[in-house]
Amino acid sequence: MSPLFDLSGRSIVITGATGALGRTAAITLAGLGAKLTLAAGSKDDLDDVGAKIKERGGACRLIARRPDTLADSEAIAAEALDTYGRIDGLLVASGTNIPKMIGEMAPEEWEQVMDANVRGSWLMCKSAGKPMIAQGRGGKVVLVSSVRGRLGTPRGYSAYCPSKSAVDGLTRALATEWGQHRITVNAIGPTVFRSKLTAWMFDDDPKASASRVQSLPRIPLGRLGEPEDLMGIIVYLLAPASDFCTGQVIYVDGGYTAG
Ligand SMILES: NC(=O)c1ccc[n+]([C@@H]2O[C@H](COP(=O)([O-])OP(=O)(O)OC[C@H]3O[C@@H](n4cnc5c(N)ncnc54)[C@H](OP(=O)(O)O)[C@@H]3O)[C@@H](O)[C@H]2O)c1
Repeated sequence: MSPLFDLSGRSIVITGATGALGRTAAITLAGLGAKLTLAAGSKDDLDDVGAKIKERGGACRLIARRPDTLADSEAIAAEALDTYGRIDGLLVASGTNIPKMIGEMAPEEWEQVMDANVRGSWLMCKSAGKPMIAQGRGGKVVLVSSVRGRLGTPRGYSAYCPSKSAVDGLTRALATEWGQHRITVNAIGPTVFRSKLTAWMFDDDPKASASRVQSLPRIPLGRLGEPEDLMGIIVYLLAPASDFCTGQVIYVDGGYTAG
């Protein structure tokens, strides 16, 4: 293993660890020797990820919480500190979407999307950032944005698009605030990849096929994504290789935003 990409022994917190992205990242990072603290709301799904990692000899600690409140995000960070004595990296992979036209969307639904995507990211950064600063050894934060943070399509994303634009702003603001502590803060910007949120787009039914056929010409690499497509950038952003990269939203989208 090149020291550039060496994650062995690094204490990394992942929220949304039961989702397509969080779970794939957890299994990948555990395979690279990282010591993980995995958080999500669904205890059974979390136990399942934990069992997979332990079966393969990986190290992980589980905490059945979402970063909904400061008490939750503090508890997630404390779990990592109590278990491993430090936090070296954070991946906020928790998030949600409620696609609806603005006329049909209740303000509470808009808040639900903003809370999951923006407030959760902000709270988790606040709680994991404090010990990272105190440790004085730098650190790595990876947030999950989307091509929707930059674009206004498709229709019905009046909560999701601004929530991801806010994640982009948070990325740049914290990179500025924490550069002095050698803590890098970056975001990844995927286009559609296979998950619970997007499973319908991968179906063979006519509505899904029509939607795929419409979006594929806009993707130069000619396909939708898989969670595995995002692992290279996540490893890079958590590893020493990215030590001089901060405040960036990196699109891993098959070239979607190039067009
Ligand atoms: N899939 C895509 O095409 C795509 C594209 C671009 C960006 N993204 C972003 O990638 C991230 C991961 O998404 P995914 O596709 O892996 O989704 P997913 O499979 O649905 O997983 C979402 C994760 O977030 C947690 N979660 C669900 N609702 C939540 C809420 N209201 N508050 C806090 N946590 C919640 C879920 O765990 P529990 O229910 O167990 O708590 C789960 O672990 C999200 O930020 C998403 O916006 C996804």
